[in-house]
Order: sequence, then C-alpha cells, then structure tokens
Amino acid sequence: MADAVEFHDRMLSLGLARVSEAAALASARLIGRGDEKAADQAAVNAMRNQLNLLDIDGVVVIGEGERDEAPMLFIGEKVGNGSGPAVDIALDPLEGTTLTAKDMPNALTVIAMAPRGTLLHAPDVYMEKLAIGPGYEPDVVTLDMSPTERISALARAKGCTPADITVCILERPRHEEMIAEVRATGASIRLITDGDVAGVIHCAEAAITGIDMYMGSGGAPEGVLAASALKCMGGQIYGKLLFRNDDERARARRAGITDLDRIYSRDELVTADVIFAATGVTDGSIVRGIKREVGFLTTETILMRSKTGSVRRMIYRNPVKPS
Ligand code: FBP
Repeated sequence: MADAVEFHDRMLSLGLARVSEAAALASARLIGRGDEKAADQAAVNAMRNQLNLLDIDGVVVIGEGERDEAPMLFIGEKVGNGSGPAVDIALDPLEGTTLTAKDMPNALTVIAMAPRGTLLHAPDVYMEKLAIGPGYEPDVVTLDMSPTERISALARAKGCTPADITVCILERPRHEEMIAEVRATGASIRLITDGDVAGVIHCAEAAITGIDMYMGSGGAPEGVLAASALKCMGGQIYGKLLFRNDDERARARRAGITDLDRIYSRDELVTADVIFAATGVTDGSIVRGIKREVGFLTTETILMRSKTGSVRRMIYRNPVKPS
C-alpha cells in the first residue's frame, strides 16, 4: 500500500510539472510584448485548465488573490478533479509579470503542492525574508540580526571574508538603507528588479548562481513558494509578515493568522513534505527560458520533491499547433 501511495505521489509530481509547463507555454507569445496583464491572464487560464485534470482534491491557499479580486485561482478555489488526495496548492502562474513583459531574466511559472493544511495561508501582504542555501548550521543567520551581523556570521560559517559574500536584494526605495549597510561591509549585491522566488532559490545553488544570501521584503505568498523550493533543495528561510494598515492586518486574521508578529522558519511556512515545480519563461540561472523556433516551443522545468530530495530538470519540445 505504501508503495502505491509513493507511486501516486511520483505520478502526481509529473502532473504538476505539466501544469507549470502549460502556464509557461501559454505566456510564450506575450514575452517582450509590454502587456503584463495579458501575459498573466494567459498563464492563469492555462495553469487552471491543466491543474483541473489532476487526480487531486485540491484547494488553492496561495493564489491570484482573494475571491472578490480574482476570478480564477482565487484563494479557496477548489482545483483538481476531486478524486485524489486532499492537498493545498500554492501557485503563481507568472512570477515576474513585468520581467515577462520586458523580456528580462528570471520570470517563472511556479506551483507547489502539499497535504491539506500544511502550507501557510499567507495573506497578500509583504513579508520580510532572509534565506541562505544548504550546508549551514541552523540559525547561523536570523531575522533579528542586522544586515552587517548576518554577513559577518555567514562569512565566518563559510570560511571567507564579507567581501566574498554576495547578497541578492530587490531594488526598491524601501531597501536603500539595507543596501547601503550591506555595501559598507564589503559584500557585493545582486540587485533584482522583480522575482524574489527566483532570488531566494538562487541561494540553494550558490556555486552556480554566485548568490549566498537573500534579504529584504517582498510578497508573502512568494515567501511560501520560495520556502517550498528550499525545503526540497535544502537551505534556510525566515519570514515575518509586514503590515502597512488595518486592512492588511484584517486580511491576515481572515487567513487564520493570530500572532501577527511571528517569525516563521522554513518548516513553519511549509509543515510537511512538498512537491515544487517551476518552468522558465525568460532565461534565468535556475532554468532556461522558453526557446522559440518555427513550429516548436521548448521549455525547461525544475521538479522537486522534499520527501526524497530529488531535483529533476525536464526539457520539453512542444509542437505548436497552427492557429
Ligand atoms: P508579480 O509577478 O506579481 O509582478 O510580482 C513580482 C514581484 O517582484 C515578486 O517576486 C515580489 O515578491 C514582489 O513582486 C515585490 O513586490 P513590490 O513590487 O511591491 O516590491
């Protein structure tokens, strides 16, 4: 019986890769066309159609928004054909809508699946994030530390100097002080204009991406997706929800969050084994973006399961149907 469950899990993971592939393929014709909304909508439609073919009794816990603001893949929407395991689904059909519209690096389609009730129902507010890759002692860096302290601690743990550390940060006015402090330590900064799911995942493959640590605030839903990826690849992430007003606090309470000041570790953001899939839309250091040739579109997808630690990269050459 255990074997049958495991086999089903494996098959479902392949199904999940098809879901992220479908979303990426649908957004292909909108890469570099300057229309973020159309690109997002195409990815949403395709992701939803493909997701509803899976043998799962799924509920979207991280999605396109609350029911009154998103017609599809809204939080609470039931997905799948209903005849399989009860699961939570976290998704971002197009992570980096602006990156896609401008054909800039690291736009992804992203989806994660875990047993029902095990993914944090993060409201659509900001989250303060801090992430590092695998191989470090727990809590070597924490959200309570200043940026300077984090860099010194990580450099000590890595056996190098602060000048050998690279930190990834979203380029935003709200991060100006943090950026200045990090630069003052001698560390280098990879500034990104969008896409902090990819930003965090980069830490898990530091030897390839050159990024040791991610810090700064971004979307809370993206924080849960990034935690899902790190749970599969190894690495630590901490997240603390940030509220700008009472409306945002009310969103959190509606999502069932009672302690608004809590700092979540990776395994508190994602409390059980998770399957994670992401497909490249534009080129990035984790997966390549969609390649176009006459008659074909080619995608690269990363598919991972935390239960086994497996990381699979899949290239799919898809014949394009004449329209
Ligand atoms: P979209 O794909 O929805 O445009 O989000 C991209 C993103 O850069 C996320 O990766 C990040 O978490 C968030 O936006 C940051 O928000 P803001 O642009 O408000 O700083």
